[in-house]
Amino acid sequence: MDIKSLIRNIPDFPKPGIMFRDITTLLQNPDGLRGVIDLMAAVCAPLQPDYILGMESRGFIFGTPLAYKLGVGFIPVRKPGKLPGAVYSVEYELEYGTDRLEMHQDALKEGDRVLIVDDLIATGGTAQAAAKMVQQAGAELVGFCFVVELLALGGREKLPNVPIISMVEY
Ligand code: PRP
Ligand code: ADE
Repeated sequence: MDIKSLIRNIPDFPKPGIMFRDITTLLQNPDGLRGVIDLMAAVCAPLQPDYILGMESRGFIFGTPLAYKLGVGFIPVRKPGKLPGAVYSVEYELEYGTDRLEMHQDALKEGDRVLIVDDLIATGGTAQAAAKMVQQAGAELVGFCFVVELLALGGREKLPNVPIISMVEY
């Protein structure tokens, strides 16, 4: 299954000069959806996570079926003000300004093995923020898995020294 051929490229979205890698066309293809989740599961299983942690919102789309397939739990990392319990909260840099991500403080305990999953890594700010919360909780970060990696933006340089796996690169 050729994942890249199922990802649509939309120039100048959301701003001029950005080539948007649109995963909706991959998701709506039955073989594409099954194939990408099966592949992620095969390459991530050896990391033996106890939990998949996924970032709102596109990280939820891939993280939850991956957790189901691996037989582990899923932990949502959400945009501010959405989670009802006590949260860890980490601010991160956007191209213009900052944003914030949150995770329930009681979602993880010391020693839990956590795999961070998202649809795409660009600058790495989102994944870095998620990793900080895993560290704050005292859990063990075992790796990252992305469907798409935008190599030119060097996002992986921001991340801790654990396996960083991506299904396709641009
Ligand atoms: C996109 C994407 C990643 C993040 C990657 O999410 O789904 O989470 O950007 O960019 P970075 O590596 O530069 O941090 P976005 O914030 O657009 O939210 P969405 O998933 O709700 O569309
Ligand atoms: N998120 C950040 N950069 C992106 C891109 N080029 N395509 C899709 N999602 C993105």
